[in-house]
Amino acid sequence: MAEAADEAGVSPLPREQTIEWFRDAKFGMFIHWGVYALLGKGEWIRTVGEIPRSEYAKLQRRFNPTKFDPDAWADFAENAGMKYMVFTTKHLDGFCMFDANNTDWKVTNAPYGRDVLAETTQAFEARGIRVGFYYCVWDCHHDDYLPQLDWEETDRPDERRDLRKYVDYMRDHTKQLLTDYRPAPFVMWWDAGWHNKPETVDAAGTNAMVRRLKPDILINDRQFTEEDLVTPEQRIPPTGLLDEHGNPVLWEACITMTSHWWGYDKHETVYKTSEFLIRMLVDIVSKGGNLLLNVGPKPDGTIQKEFRDRLAAIGKWMDKYSTAIHGTSASPFNLLPFYGRVTTKGDRLYVHVFEWPGDLVARLPNLQNQIVSACLLVPPGKRHHPLGFARNGSDWVITLPERAPDKAASVLVVELDGPPRVDPFVIRPNTKGVIRLPALYGALDGPHGQRIRYESCDGLIHAGNWIRPGDGIEWHFETNQAGLYRVKLEHVVESGQ
Ligand code: GLC
Repeated sequence: MAEAADEAGVSPLPREQTIEWFRDAKFGMFIHWGVYALLGKGEWIRTVGEIPRSEYAKLQRRFNPTKFDPDAWADFAENAGMKYMVFTTKHLDGFCMFDANNTDWKVTNAPYGRDVLAETTQAFEARGIRVGFYYCVWDCHHDDYLPQLDWEETDRPDERRDLRKYVDYMRDHTKQLLTDYRPAPFVMWWDAGWHNKPETVDAAGTNAMVRRLKPDILINDRQFTEEDLVTPEQRIPPTGLLDEHGNPVLWEACITMTSHWWGYDKHETVYKTSEFLIRMLVDIVSKGGNLLLNVGPKPDGTIQKEFRDRLAAIGKWMDKYSTAIHGTSASPFNLLPFYGRVTTKGDRLYVHVFEWPGDLVARLPNLQNQIVSACLLVPPGKRHHPLGFARNGSDWVITLPERAPDKAASVLVVELDGPPRVDPFVIRPNTKGVIRLPALYGALDGPHGQRIRYESCDGLIHAGNWIRPGDGIEWHFETNQAGLYRVKLEHVVESGQ
């Protein structure tokens, strides 16, 4: 695309620079906040609860988050090691969390009266955290949005609607969002584009406009045109994401700490543990992706303790180990024989060990390089702890100390004689023709809301929490012996299940 002159007069950065920065950033905060927080039942409550528009509209008069403190939010993100933030400027209920020029259905018309988008953006940017804007294309408040849902019919008659007018309305928002809040946004994070065909809302036209207005911007894939950023939701692609030529694509998994909703849910009882979240971040980064981790602030503007505690725990881990996250690349290993992940930077491997192996070795399969040194990653200024290493066939084995320095993930730094060269690890039958498929050698996957995950029991790593039928585990192996194989599966369920 030609780098058109920026219409707001700021000299444009090359988009490649934003892409590179984003690849290195790895970790961001998603913020879902709107008037729906008042009801405390998630961000879809207008639709899920089939609340008539006139009824829902009353929430505007009640939105008065007197404890809103964007500096505190930005501190939580910064201390967690997050490098960017994406804010919901307008969700499904159409309520604008910014001072939109073309509607009264906006935060500045609520009793609170302040442009929370502007204030949040400033607070985060003041700490060097770049800000992106989420925008929901589906709008169940606007008179001209189509299609409407069956139950909405009496609320808004169809014949008065003209989707083109809605597209103009949405483009006015987009222009304002791309102009009034600079240097934000670094990403235009569309959502719910699936509700219409991209042609119906001229998604390509909208995105072309976005690029004209802000040539350095990234655009996500949720209006179903081919753009910069692929956004798997509530799942981790088991082997990362590649394009049709086998090149890594820019991707970001967005994930909640809760079991389901993104907006504040006062009934939620299930939260992912800090340990799980730390491992999830490492896992995603080792697969070449970013993690956009969500918080849904409360109606009073505070962030609940469950989120704060987890962010703080991640931050504590990041204080020690963020060099093994930021600016790293994906693992060169397709499989590892211990429960952990690898990230790389130049000639260096960062070996993240999740469960301390009983045999006290970390085996790096088919690593062709020479190892120059190996040690535990310690914070700057702390004494180095060198580790022994030895060749073993085509593998290297690193000797670990008796105890894991960190419960969630301990990190080893392995210096190589050059950029890592690794042959794929292939599962083959043993001399008796038996093919062993440990859970660790499988790829766990599931649709939206994936539940299956690695767990350990007495040192044995298994695929647990398998509570959704769509989730699964997949192995790839090679055998040169055609024949009938007997499959033996070891599984355990808790008594009573
Ligand atoms: C899902 C939710 C939506 C949320 C989005 C974030 O699509 O339905 O409310 O904003 O995830 O990716």
